Amino acid sequence: MPDDLAPALTDHLATASPPGRGEIRVFRVDLSAGPEGDDFRRLAEWADLDAEERARAERLVRPRDGRRFVRCRGALRSLLGGLLGATAAEVAFRVGPGGKPILVQPGGSRWRFNVTHSDELALIAVAWDRELGVDVERVRPIQQAARIVESYFTAAEVAEFRKLAEADQAEAFIRGWTRKEAVVKAQGVGLAGLATEFETLFGLAPPGESFRPCLPMPEVLGWRLWEATPRPGHVATLAVGPHGGGG
Ligand SMILES: CC(C)(COP(=O)(O)OP(=O)(O)OC[C@H]1O[C@@H](n2cnc3c(N)ncnc32)[C@H](O)[C@@H]1OP(=O)(O)O)[C@@H](O)C(=O)NCCC(=O)NCCS
Repeated sequence: MPDDLAPALTDHLATASPPGRGEIRVFRVDLSAGPEGDDFRRLAEWADLDAEERARAERLVRPRDGRRFVRCRGALRSLLGGLLGATAAEVAFRVGPGGKPILVQPGGSRWRFNVTHSDELALIAVAWDRELGVDVERVRPIQQAARIVESYFTAAEVAEFRKLAEADQAEAFIRGWTRKEAVVKAQGVGLAGLATEFETLFGLAPPGESFRPCLPMPEVLGWRLWEATPRPGHVATLAVGPHGGGG
């Protein structure tokens, strides 16, 4: 059973202290910062990316998305490099069976991470030997929310959603969605994670800025669920596995 170790939320800055092995840390990365202009190849982080990452940035249609991707990968690399005693460029990833990026690290090292981004905000969750899944979304009305709930949520969730006042549905939907995504991402199973197979419910009491247990279901499928408002107008859910469940 996972314990109740509360995740800490900090900004990703050069001065930020690295996470210790006994903590769960979520770094907030501002993807908008940096030089003006659209050429992401001029960002300092570009030098740290590998050929595959650079090709991926260049395939993105909008330069703005390329810049966000480069900044996010750069932050991830520098953060993980700091944990491994390596440079950002030396950090290497492999992809798990369900598509989840995994850190390549020396035997005995058991850092786990997961990344999420929405517009100009990224979150990087890191823990020692605990599997993680994190999802952030900007709160906004989703036109097909009711239809998505009918398709991907459980019967109890559909019933709860129908009872909500229309004014509450947009945020409740986004919160329910991030809860599902966090579990699916912790499992690392991608689309095979069928959200209909587990229940998270929506979350109606206002979330705090820092991570607090998701209510009314703080644990789902053995994953401890935490919810926060990492930036005004955004909600995030973090799913944390038990110590030693890092695979
Ligand atoms: C693929 C998927 C993980 C992408 O998530 P997303 O919400 O579009 O994007 P996010 O910003 O949260 O996460 C993207 C990051 O997740 C990571 N990621 C990619 N595949 C992953 C996987 N299979 N498992 C965990 N993390 C994954 C990557 O680091 C990626 O960052 P990158 O784009 O910079 O490479 C996820 O959406 C998915 O497959 N979901 C299944 C659909 C579903 O059933 N959802 C339930 C909702 S009710």
